[in-house]
Amino acid sequence: MTNVSSLIDQKTGAQSRLIYSDQAIYEQELERIFGRCWLFLAHESQVPNPGDFFRTYMGEDEVVVVRQDDRSIRVFLNTCTHRGNRLTRADRGNARAFSCNYHGWAFGLDGSLVTVPLESEVYFNEIDKNQFRLVPVERVDSYHGLIFGCFDKNAPSLGEYLGDMRWYLDVALDAMPGGTELLGATQKVIIHTNWKLSVENVCGDGYHLGWSHGGALKATQSGDFSGFTVGNSSVDLEGGMSVAGLNGNSVLATLDGVSGYAFYPNPTLALKYLSENRAKAVERLGKLRGEKLWGSQLNLTVFPSLQFLPGLNWFRVYHPKGPGKIEMWTWAIAEKAMPDELKQQILDNELLTFGPAGLFDNDDGDNLSACTVQSRGWRTRQMPVYTNMALGRSGKRVGLPGDIASGVVSEHNQRYFYRRWQEHMQAKDWSEVPQYNLNPLEASDEQRTVQTA
Ligand code: FES
Ligand SMILES: [Fe+2]
Repeated sequence: MTNVSSLIDQKTGAQSRLIYSDQAIYEQELERIFGRCWLFLAHESQVPNPGDFFRTYMGEDEVVVVRQDDRSIRVFLNTCTHRGNRLTRADRGNARAFSCNYHGWAFGLDGSLVTVPLESEVYFNEIDKNQFRLVPVERVDSYHGLIFGCFDKNAPSLGEYLGDMRWYLDVALDAMPGGTELLGATQKVIIHTNWKLSVENVCGDGYHLGWSHGGALKATQSGDFSGFTVGNSSVDLEGGMSVAGLNGNSVLATLDGVSGYAFYPNPTLALKYLSENRAKAVERLGKLRGEKLWGSQLNLTVFPSLQFLPGLNWFRVYHPKGPGKIEMWTWAIAEKAMPDELKQQILDNELLTFGPAGLFDNDDGDNLSACTVQSRGWRTRQMPVYTNMALGRSGKRVGLPGDIASGVVSEHNQRYFYRRWQEHMQAKDWSEVPQYNLNPLEASDEQRTVQTA
């Protein structure tokens, strides 16, 4: 095991470039992060009926999410227990059984081995089918429609894992009756970058928005956006906040209740929906979340590899494929209560801005690949990189969970992301992973404020 204590310096915000290129560190991540944390698998709307299945990854392990006849969800390693073939090759579908196309063994939805061709002739009826059940993922649970799995039987519950982050997640997932759904096909993109660079780009890096995406912003911006200006010519630190310290989960938020839709060529429909439903959101979420966060631009990160942006309305999971490669899966996300015309607009705008042909993703992909490649040279990798912006300038705010820095232009969230990474990489098991409950919700709704304490 690599001792990573010297590779992240919390005092200076420095990271060693080895964490983006070293194969041994990557193998340790598969075990201690992807093998230990709760990982997003699928949205319930993707497997609504018994027999529905969805193929995805947990780290580099391929798994299949299956809706059971009793409507519960089970998840299995997508590998045949005979000679190890991939069991289902379809991305998703509906099945009554999964039959392996190598020798024909067939497994039920519950993972049981049902059929073995020539069982009596070549196995002489001596095979113990119980021994060859599909291997289940130990822990499966869901939160407001999002299905998560975890390989570690000693992990905290999903609720504890999400912790106070649930207060922010609910703005995106539970503001309206019926919750959310994912729209469109899975958009899959391979990027030659380290997975952590992709996550940090979205979890807190508002700094690159006005600069990297200057052209894309000019092409799409139709409304006011609190937080920053195109070209980074000015910044409004009171117009947003960076929230971290939530066990590796984090939030970047504007606070105006509308700027999630600022980058729509025509946001009229979205703004109408927000104003017609604002009172309902306030009723369900309280005044602060209903007025200031619902409809705002929110970058939500669930450690380690799930991110979504209600407003811009993309929803994404990163699958690592080695230290220098990821497969990025993206969908559009919408509230079920939205009218169909708005859902179509959300999907269209998501395709315009993110995903394979998205203006923003193309800006990011090039930078993230170059950051990864530049971490490999023998001399270059001896130089650290930094997330030291606004170091030491965060604090508590009344009634808001987490440790909060002003503005969406900060490196506060990235520092916490790397701190959590380091805590997991150092810990032998969950008993050594610290759990935080910073600034829990003890205030009444009237006391809550988004102003700096
Ligand atoms: S590998 Fe699947 S039936 Fe042989
Ligand atoms: Fe970006």
